[in-house]
Amino acid sequence: MQGETQKIKEITDFCSNKKILLTPSALSILKERNDWKEIIEELSNETILSAELIKKKIQKTKINLIEPEIIIKEKTREIKAKEIEPNYRIMDEYDVTNKSFSKGQIKDFHECFTDKFNFLSSLLKKKHSIEAKPISKLKKAEKNDDLDLIGMISEKWVTKKGDTALKLEDFEDECIALLSRNDITQEEKKFLMLDDVIAVKGKKINDEMILVKKIYYPDVSVRKLKTIKEEIMIASISDIHVGSKLFLEKEFQKFIDWLNLKTMEEKEKQQAEKIKYLFILGDNVEGIGIYPTQFDELSIKDTFEQYAKLEEFLLQIPEYIEVFMIPGQHDAVRWADPRPAIPEKMMPNASKQKNIHLLGSPSWVEIEGLKVLLYHGNSMHDLFAKVSGLTASNPNEACKQLLKRRDLMVGFGLSQVYVLEKKDYMLIREEPDFFLTGDIHRIAIDEYNGTTIINNATWQERTDYQVKLGHYPTPGIAVTVDLSTRNVTKKIF
Ligand SMILES: [Fe+2]
Repeated sequence: MQGETQKIKEITDFCSNKKILLTPSALSILKERNDWKEIIEELSNETILSAELIKKKIQKTKINLIEPEIIIKEKTREIKAKEIEPNYRIMDEYDVTNKSFSKGQIKDFHECFTDKFNFLSSLLKKKHSIEAKPISKLKKAEKNDDLDLIGMISEKWVTKKGDTALKLEDFEDECIALLSRNDITQEEKKFLMLDDVIAVKGKKINDEMILVKKIYYPDVSVRKLKTIKEEIMIASISDIHVGSKLFLEKEFQKFIDWLNLKTMEEKEKQQAEKIKYLFILGDNVEGIGIYPTQFDELSIKDTFEQYAKLEEFLLQIPEYIEVFMIPGQHDAVRWADPRPAIPEKMMPNASKQKNIHLLGSPSWVEIEGLKVLLYHGNSMHDLFAKVSGLTASNPNEACKQLLKRRDLMVGFGLSQVYVLEKKDYMLIREEPDFFLTGDIHRIAIDEYNGTTIINNATWQERTDYQVKLGHYPTPGIAVTVDLSTRNVTKKIF
């Protein structure tokens, strides 16, 4: 009690010294507080301190105290992807970068096609319940005997009777495979392309001919979508085309800002903070001299400056995100597939970053135990040209065909150029969990036997060339996949 009396005296003396009058109700509030002195100090401009004034002051102080707490929370936000150590393996064995030794001689051609046939034929034998024999065994079989053969298609034609026939070759022999009208559908026939390696089940017609009742592709097995425990995500984009007048810089900067959590809505931040891996699928800059009228369509007319601008964006990506970038036709590497990585000298600053990885096209990366196949997508154009029904509006269907063949090179000698190396880098040697492409500028998402297919879009507006073709790109979209659920989301900027 004596303590309370003493405190009241101190308060009244303090106010009196400051020539402030105190109402009894104000005094009864202040005597209960340890910060009475600070409150009076703050209100020292007043001549009379009422209970109401003091209450208002206390309320305001409370708010002020709460606000810094929120700011502190915001500053120390735990970014999910940042807390997790990166877990990836660049599968260098499938990337041609620094390993292109081809001289374009017949020897190179022979070695590459031998590698292709050996790999795909062994896959066919392993995956399907067939007892494939060399084509030369056809001559030794009896007429009407059942037979399984493996061969590469070297010719395809329609006979006078309207049947489809194939010439199949292996290392030693060749035969004619006549496709049964009753057993092989038109749909199956139209997808057969030269250089495909297939297995056929059929009956011997004569020493040179087999009637085919079933066709097998090497294919990818039917698998369940693999998930991981961690709630982290991948993001995938393509065809940025920095340096083009049609480059959507504002939208692309929004994407970079989004990766940096510079978005206002908490829901969006909760998504963006999970991004741990970013894949960029080629045509990163517009390039110079890619087509005749291109020069007038450039906002940056120097390749190095185009890459310098691209670097500005790459260097803004948070360092906890691992970035994997491959080249496309517009990048500063050879036009032919397989393409080596963009040389480090084009992006001296970005390539020094620990989290930025420049890879070839095609290339493979294993992240969190999931295998990702990256390919810009050039060979799809030959599929569009050769297979009726396959168009640039549905690039995902072309991707399924590539997976089915386990080969990204379809039909050597068509519009896409290939450098044939001793090792065939275009083969799909493993079963990918993700198959990511770009090139078509049109978003398409699909799933095939446990592989998620993502045809990424672009950051370039519709070009005159696309107008002429009647092609509609879908610019400004990033695709994300939550690895814990395999849910795929399109994020529009
Ligand atoms: Fe492109």
